Amino acid sequence: MRGAGTTVAADAAEGAQTPDAADADGTAAATPAELRGCFGMFATGITVLTAGGESPCGMTANSFTSVSLDPALVLVCVQHDAVMHKAILSEEKFAISVLAAHQEAVARRFADRTRPRGRREFEGVRWRPGALTGAPLVADTLAWIECGLAAVHDGGDHSIFVGSVLDTGRAEAGDALLFFRGKYHRLEPQSHDRDGAATRGGAGDSA
Ligand SMILES: Cc1cc2nc3c(=O)[nH]c(=O)nc-3n(C[C@H](O)[C@H](O)[C@H](O)COP(=O)(O)O)c2cc1C
Repeated sequence: MRGAGTTVAADAAEGAQTPDAADADGTAAATPAELRGCFGMFATGITVLTAGGESPCGMTANSFTSVSLDPALVLVCVQHDAVMHKAILSEEKFAISVLAAHQEAVARRFADRTRPRGRREFEGVRWRPGALTGAPLVADTLAWIECGLAAVHDGGDHSIFVGSVLDTGRAEAGDALLFFRGKYHRLEPQSHDRDGAATRGGAGDSA
């Protein structure tokens, strides 16, 4: 776990291997666009991060990371200017819904800055309030996690919210929605013939 006050950028500079990854003073030399391209090479799942309260809100997030099993901790990084940032700080609770392969439209909705806000933000999306947090849990997802806010760390233009896991649930079946190279992909199971050769796999992506 990162110590309080240590930034993601500082850690990245410390671990830099190549001369063009950082300037002599340790600041990142890459532009935000280059960084986005580089970071986007790391394939992730996609979640919808939610907070309850008077005005429930949701935000697509792929920065979700499991941190610790005992105690049970997760983290998510949220940009300072997102509505979710203020919501988590005031509610001190949040939930994470892990999207399934068929939920690209949900991911797109909660990443769209022009989406309606307040109760209308969830129009057309099936959800129920989490029993322990009141945060919306999106229906038909692969998994959901309810969290209490355990710590907030500085993460440059994001805050790193560490959540103490209160409750979880998961689906018995279903494939994952993925994000890679700036595009949505569906994880599809590979089937193998009797010699172990793949007969199907990878498949669908969309910009
Ligand atoms: C696949 C994907 C993953 C994202 N992950 C994050 C994330 O982890 N943290 C974050 O702050 N924004 C993330 N975003 C961007 C936010 O979803 C988007 O900017 C959202 O509109 C922010 O909420 P706001 O409209 O209330 O500002 C992601 C967007 C996409 C498409």
